[in-house]
Amino acid sequence: MKLCVALDLPTKDENIKLARNIKDFDIWLKVGLRSYIRDGKEFIQELKEINSNFNIFLDLKLYDIPNTMADAAEEIAKIGVEMFNIHASAGKEAMNMVMQRLKTFEKRPLVLAVTVLTSFDEKSFKYIYNDSIENKANQFSIDAYKAGLDGVVCSVFESKKIKELTSKDFITLTPGIRPFGEDKGDQKRVADLKIAKENLSDFIVVGRPIYKSSNPKEIVEKILTNL
Ligand code: C5P
Repeated sequence: MKLCVALDLPTKDENIKLARNIKDFDIWLKVGLRSYIRDGKEFIQELKEINSNFNIFLDLKLYDIPNTMADAAEEIAKIGVEMFNIHASAGKEAMNMVMQRLKTFEKRPLVLAVTVLTSFDEKSFKYIYNDSIENKANQFSIDAYKAGLDGVVCSVFESKKIKELTSKDFITLTPGIRPFGEDKGDQKRVADLKIAKENLSDFIVVGRPIYKSSNPKEIVEKILTNL
């Protein structure tokens, strides 16, 4: 299991400060829409300058027509990040086209599919998809696997089932982790390290329990020794 730290602080300076503080660990860093829109590619270069071994997950959740998604995926691959994500609900053709386009790269980033956003409840989900969250999460995972993606973003509680339906090597990246039972914040279905491990999660994403702590370095170290 690998640790992916969400750089969700409100300013670039604070994110950089956090990255410097935890630069000596073997970790992934998650750069999301807000930071990327504000701080761009230069931010990613700066993170790499802090530690060239940092692995970057660019969490932009692409959703568009297939050709536009493939164009965007190509540009993301050129930035040199190690992982990014797209929406499975953009469709099989879009996923296939993205993976086809990335074949031209000698070393391509890992590509994950977002299955169902965790902000949906059953009712609001059904309004759009006319199906249950569980059915669609499973179907989107199978579609992503068949299209040759490397894995999915899902809840810890779906991870095991998704691996059964696809492959044990199909990556599951799971947010909503409270490593040692910390405050949930706005997350609803949270899990600790032990549950994440039992459910075969490959990557855990942790934000607030690290950056809100008075000693982020100590928390990261404690998580890593318990992975
Ligand atoms: O602070 P916390 O540990 O809850 O942060 C989790 C991170 O994972 C945030 O960046 C959040 O946007 C992201 N995320 C999530 N649930 C998803 C997808 C992404 O919490 N389904």
